[in-house]
Amino acid sequence: MDLEKEVRALYLNNRRIKNGYQFTVPSPGTYPYQWMWDSCFHAIVLSHFDPESAKKELFSLLSRQLPDGMVPHVIFWKQGLIRPYEWGWGKDDIGSITQPPMLAYAAWEIHRRAPDGAFLEKIYPQLLAFYKFLIEKRDPRDHHLIGIVNPDESGEDNSPRFDAPLNLKPDVSFVHHYLRRHKLVDQNRKCNFDAELCMSQTFWVKDVPFNAILIHNLQVLSHIASFLGHKAGEHFAEQNHQLIKTAMREYLFKDGVYWSSYDYDYKPLQVATWAHFAPLFAGLYTQEEAQKLVDTHFKNEETFHASYGIRTVSKQEPSYRSTEFWRGPIWFAPHWFMYKGLRAYGFKEEARFLRNANLTLLKQNGFREYFNPETGKGLGAKDFTWGTLTLDMLDDDI
Ligand code: GLC
Repeated sequence: MDLEKEVRALYLNNRRIKNGYQFTVPSPGTYPYQWMWDSCFHAIVLSHFDPESAKKELFSLLSRQLPDGMVPHVIFWKQGLIRPYEWGWGKDDIGSITQPPMLAYAAWEIHRRAPDGAFLEKIYPQLLAFYKFLIEKRDPRDHHLIGIVNPDESGEDNSPRFDAPLNLKPDVSFVHHYLRRHKLVDQNRKCNFDAELCMSQTFWVKDVPFNAILIHNLQVLSHIASFLGHKAGEHFAEQNHQLIKTAMREYLFKDGVYWSSYDYDYKPLQVATWAHFAPLFAGLYTQEEAQKLVDTHFKNEETFHASYGIRTVSKQEPSYRSTEFWRGPIWFAPHWFMYKGLRAYGFKEEARFLRNANLTLLKQNGFREYFNPETGKGLGAKDFTWGTLTLDMLDDDI
């Protein structure tokens, strides 16, 4: 398989231009709109062969940034299609929630591969506004942990990590879960999307992957600010990067791994998911802890390690389902985050396992959305872009 050729073809197939903005839809059949973290992934991949389109993708996403800095998780671009749900502000064609904060990383990758200081200077104020929004609006007690107001903000919509705060059982159906999350949006509409108020009344999760992704991105933001000579921004990013790192250790670390938690009193969400591995991406484990994590969890066939990759939920969990969306299957984005983390720690063999797993899954199924870890069968959307992240996993030293 000529991966780059297939990736280029998929991006052309999924490219859309609306109101003068160019972006990529994750899957023409299933996800015909623009999604936030997907667009960051697209920009990272496009930076390998088409940096100008990568820049357009981010500016298209940021064109709908709100005055308070929030970047919506979805932009419908008024495509005239029947939308399954408005996700909040019925008056507009954007979602009321956000998604994992990969923007700074994506912007820096574009500049790293095709240096363009003017591009960074142009995008920087919007990046800063977004990270300030998260820190100012989603951490009402100044504990330095960012809260998400809906499971969909994690990008792992029906992950069993979020069952407890939603009062759902491990065997909840996909549809029931979906309706429950939309009820949450209705509740948030009642509290006028005021995150502090809504979180205290409904759903307030300090999620591990979201905060780990934020920590890494704040570090990147501080590089960008330093490169551009913006001292105040550099200080803001560096300081918050450290504060969130320390807070994650204080509130979310137990028994050698990180667990998400919810509500005022940090009730632990003790469901074993790939979230244990996400902190590798942000360098939150010591080398010794990381080694233990790899030996005890990453390589453990009874829990996470399957022949086709890493399960998103441990096989031991009562909620584990090999074919059900975020309740067990393999997904390419978690593979990418784990790959980056493992590589940074020097776990080459494990990083290579993920890369080879991706190549096998792509070869057998094409660009599908998620995969049965036990059989390798492709499931969900077709012509789905996340498999293209594999192009960003071909480092020579792995
Ligand atoms: C699904 C995924 C979410 C993604 C969206 C578009 O809802 O769970 O993470 O952003 O599809 O691909």
